[in-house]
Order: sequence, then C-alpha cells, then structure tokens
Amino acid sequence: MTLNKKLTGTFYGIGVGPGDPELLTVKAINALKKIDVLIAPKTEKKSDSVALSIAQPYLKSDVEIIYQTFPMIKDFAEETEIFEANKEEILNELRGGKNVGFATLGDPMFYSTYIYIFRLLKSCGVKIETIAGVPAFLAIAAQIGRPLAFGNDILTIIPATADLDAIKNALDRADSTVLMKVYKNFPEVVDELKVCGMIDEAILVSRCGLDDEKIITDVAAHKNETLNYLSTILTRRNHD
Ligand SMILES: C[S@@+](CC[C@H](N)C(=O)[O-])C[C@H]1O[C@@H](n2cnc3c(N)ncnc32)[C@H](O)[C@@H]1O
Repeated sequence: MTLNKKLTGTFYGIGVGPGDPELLTVKAINALKKIDVLIAPKTEKKSDSVALSIAQPYLKSDVEIIYQTFPMIKDFAEETEIFEANKEEILNELRGGKNVGFATLGDPMFYSTYIYIFRLLKSCGVKIETIAGVPAFLAIAAQIGRPLAFGNDILTIIPATADLDAIKNALDRADSTVLMKVYKNFPEVVDELKVCGMIDEAILVSRCGLDDEKIITDVAAHKNETLNYLSTILTRRNHD
C-alpha cells in the first residue's frame, strides 16, 4: 500500500536522549514543537513512558498523545499483529494531514522499537524524518568520566539479551565494552565479566540522567539484585 504524500503529514522519529532534560538536540526540540500528535511508546509492563516525560515540556499545548504498547520481542515475525495495529493508527493520523512524532529514548536507530515501526511505515511510502539523539551509553561515559575508546581500541556493544556464547565471543575480542539490556541475565553477565577479566573495571549505571539515577562501581557485589530496565554496564580490559 502507498500513500499520496501530498495529502499526508510527516512522521518524525525523535531521539530524546537517555533522560537528562538538557540532552535533547535543537533539532529534536524543533520537531517536538511542530508535531500535532505524539506517539508515546511503552512496554506491556509499564504504564508510563519515559520518552514522553522528556519530550513533554516542548510539546504544543493541544498536542494529541497516543500511547502505543510495544512488546519486548525477540522475533519480530511473531508479533506482527500488534505492530500492524500500531502502524494503522499512525497512518490514520498521517492521512488526516497531521504531523506525527514518535518519541524514542536515546537514539532512534539504535536498539529501538522505532526501527520496527520505521520499517513498516517506510514500506507504505510515508514521508519520514528521523532525528538522531544522544544514546545512553555515550551519556553514561560522559557522566562517569570514562573514556570509551581511544587510539586503536576496539569498542564492542553487546545486548546482554543475546545468546551467552555470542556474548562470550564478543567479550573475548573487545578492549572496551558496552553491555546494554543487562536487566535480564545480570548474574550470568557478572560471571562472564569475571571469567574474561573485565569485572574490576565494570561500572553499572541505571536510569542515567533521570532523578533516580544510580551508579554502581562494585558490580560483582550487586550480582543478585534486580536491575531497572534502563541499566547499562561499561567496562574495559585492563592492559596493564
Ligand atoms: C531498547 S534499548 C534503547 C537504547 C536507546 N535507543 C539508546 O540510544 O540508548 C534499552 C537499553 O538502553 C539502555 N538505556 C537506555 N536509557 C538508559 C538510561 N537512561 N540509563 C541507562 N541505560 C539506558 C539500557 O541498557 C536499556 O536496557
């Protein structure tokens, strides 16, 4: 299905940064100011949208906010119904000539739900503008004063939800590592970091830039704690 672009609004994928209200780009703020409808993504478990709370101060007073639930998925093909329904809801707004924004935490093209909806809308011929945002791992590096990569360092970014063997292989090759989505198998991740000699340099940051931000330097000691979904570990191999 294609849309007549002349009659439709623009779809904006807006990266709002990881939480710090000052870490939105000027471009993101300008887009938030002009949209008529904001899609606020949330997962099944949570009733609030962190991305919406970051975006809120910049929205027009009469903006329409539509909450859309997105499942945390492993296999996109298994969850097509809910994504199709969300896509249709967005298309309806665009067909009415409205500009629709989709607020996304951090950067939209980096491990984001936005990517699924972006692909679906692109295949319908929608006019799309994606606006880069500050990804969480870069905000975290700055916040804790930890250079992420320099010289010939190989920086590896690992979603901790990946297969454990794949995580082990990636850790073995890395000089500097970002571990995303560590909430799910945190104890296993801690064990792997011990084995590959990267536990002592590990720093875990939860909810970076938000009011309840947490920075943990003795990561191994917290192995059995339940982590917030917004938790990331930075670590590196000690070459000394
Ligand atoms: C679905 S990914 C989204 C990544 C996001 N698009 C970005 O650019 O950072 C969710 C993961 O990002 C990381 N994350 C996002 N915001 C964070 C924050 N404020 N503090 C710590 N980690 C965060 C966590 O690892 C979380 O599990």
